[in-house]
Parts: sequence; structure tokens; C-alpha cells
Amino acid sequence: MEFITVETYEELSEKAASIIANQVISKPTSVLGLATGSSPVGTYKKLAELNKAGKLDFSKVTTVNLDEYVGLTADNDQSYRYFMNKNLFDNININKANTSVPNGCAADLESECKRYDKHIEDLGGIDLQLLGIGVDGHIGFNEPDSAFAKGTHVVTLDPSTIEANARFFASAADVPTNAVTMGNLPIMQAKKALLVANGANKYDILQKAFYGPITPYVPASILQLHPDITVIYSKN
Ligand code: GLP
Repeated sequence: MEFITVETYEELSEKAASIIANQVISKPTSVLGLATGSSPVGTYKKLAELNKAGKLDFSKVTTVNLDEYVGLTADNDQSYRYFMNKNLFDNININKANTSVPNGCAADLESECKRYDKHIEDLGGIDLQLLGIGVDGHIGFNEPDSAFAKGTHVVTLDPSTIEANARFFASAADVPTNAVTMGNLPIMQAKKALLVANGANKYDILQKAFYGPITPYVPASILQLHPDITVIYSKN
């Protein structure tokens, strides 16, 4: 594991973007696992700048996102599909048909979970997985639980997650209570993992996750066993 602490969010975003850019340059057909939340926004902005400057080509890249809220349609501005279009896909030369976000509005969510796992498998797995971390240690929406879930599944969001994510909604009551999330297996099988976290409120959970015991009650702690994980943290 490489744990990099930087001074500013700008530096975090630059470093993370250059790791992703290296991945895409060395393998133009890369499968990127992508994340939402506020932490990767700067990284996506840098990637879009590189693309605009003609230094990075996404035309052969495929992406799979970690998660989606249950019940929010793609055109809802709080959905993760909307977030990805706005923060990245609309700003780079990716073919949107090659981008996937779980469908949180599927009539049969169990089948949607199976379909998503099969899709990741058919792609041959993930080359680089970008992650954030929740204040309760979640990755994607893998919340603290008694076991590490392997595949894509439906979760009930932790009250601390609902509270943390309420800032993006009109009120906490508007935050969906359920989500569909990729499980830990594709994340652990990703050839590279890159976790970005900023803000002093993430310090304690990062210590627990990366220097404490490996337990499903701190979901990100499983990443200690990942063969190629880089963590970039900025306090500001
Ligand atoms: C959401 C996402 C996570 C993300 C987390 C942290 O809950 N499902 O994938 O890591 O937010 O978000 P932020 O970076 O805004 O703190």
C-alpha cells in the first residue's frame, strides 16, 4: 500500500488524475471503475482538461461505476448517473454507450445486481478502480456489516451516510434509504485501486481502515489486502 498525504485538494486531484491518465495512456482500452462523492470531482476536472488539451483519449475506454441510489432516475440531478455525466462523461470524448452505472430504478433489482456482476465479468474485470471513502468507512455503498459482500447487492444506507449525503439534497428526508452497490470482489480483483479522500473529517476513518484491524464493520479495511492500492489524502 502507498499512502500519500498532500497539502491541498488541488494536489490530490492532480496526482489522482495523473495516475488515471497513465493507466489510459498505457492501455487505451482500459476498464475504469469510477466513484461519485465530492472527493473525485477535482480529479474528473483534471482528466477533462487533459482530454480537452488533446493529451488523453477516452474513445476506447469503458467505465463501470460503483453505485446508484434506488429510485432515482438518470435525469434526477441527485442520481449518480447524472453526477457522472455532468462531472466527467459530458466533458470527455468517451462513448456513453461504454459507461455503466447500476440501474437503481430497475423493476427487479435482484436481476439488475446479477446483470451488473455479469457485465463486469464480461469486460474481463477492472483495470483501475477509483474509490472514495464514507465517514463510516464505506466504499461504494458497502456499509458496515457482519460480512464483506462479494457481488453487487442492494443495501440499506447507514444513518451516518444519510446524514453525510444530506448536504446534496433539500433535506435528509429526501436522501434515498437504499442503494445498489458493486460488491467487494470486483474491487479487490481490480488490477489497481486508487482511493482519494479529503477533509479533516476523513482522517480518523482512514487511520482505522488502513492501520486498524481488517473487519467488515470498517468496509474499506479490506483494501489492506489489495495487491496494488494507492491512497491519496489531503486534509484541506
Ligand atoms: C458516497 C458514495 C461513496 C463515496 C462517499 C464519500 O456515499 N457512495 O462512493 O466514497 O460518498 O463521499 P465524499 O467524497 O463526498 O465524502
